[in-house]
Amino acid sequence: MNLMKPFSESTEQNKQVILAIIQPLFSKLKRVLEIASGTGQHAVYFSQVMPHLDWQPSDLENALPGIQSWVNESGLKNLNPPIALDVSSPNWPQQTFDAIFSANSLHIMSQQHVKDFFSNVGRVLDINGLIAVYGPFNEHGQFTSESNQHFDAWLKSCNPDSGIKAFEWCNELAQKAGFKLIEDHPMPQNNRILVWQKMA
Ligand SMILES: C[S@@+](CC[C@H](N)C(=O)[O-])C[C@H]1O[C@@H](n2cnc3c(N)ncnc32)[C@H](O)[C@@H]1O
Repeated sequence: MNLMKPFSESTEQNKQVILAIIQPLFSKLKRVLEIASGTGQHAVYFSQVMPHLDWQPSDLENALPGIQSWVNESGLKNLNPPIALDVSSPNWPQQTFDAIFSANSLHIMSQQHVKDFFSNVGRVLDINGLIAVYGPFNEHGQFTSESNQHFDAWLKSCNPDSGIKAFEWCNELAQKAGFKLIEDHPMPQNNRILVWQKMA
């Protein structure tokens, strides 16, 4: 038994519905940077079922040993060892990617972290590069469900800086950073997948 190997039940449950959206989106792409990989379960699953991709997981330093244990166990050649990446840090990877994927991260981050996410992602994406983000979003100044409202209250009780972000605010940050919203997919349990593309 590997005591370092973390596990998230929700990640296990949402990986197939997320795949159904990102598989066609990433079908002709090569290099993907995952931001906030968490346990590493998505990284293993997506790189396994999309072997043409070169998948780069990342997260805060303290999450890396757990992700590494999933990477080691997978033995996948197209799955890289995780790298430390705090979206607010100036130390983003030097290389560029075809797409960025991030699940259930923006509602964990503070508003400043989300601003930094959108202002920094362009540094690692070429023109036409994609950002695909999965998670809950508010819209028209409201929660989209009672369960999201309870979830938001719970998030704030754990960390007052966390909380579900407004779709319109995220889209405005993305547009200011030179991205255009190209896809918006409703997902089970009041989640969404939003896809932005870097404009010339
Ligand atoms: C709820 S978990 C989601 C993990 C995974 N993506 C999933 O869907 O299972 C949120 C993740 O965001 C990461 N995170 C929080 N703040 C961050 C930041 N400033 N930069 C990068 N990652 C961050 C946390 O370390 C954590 O792994």
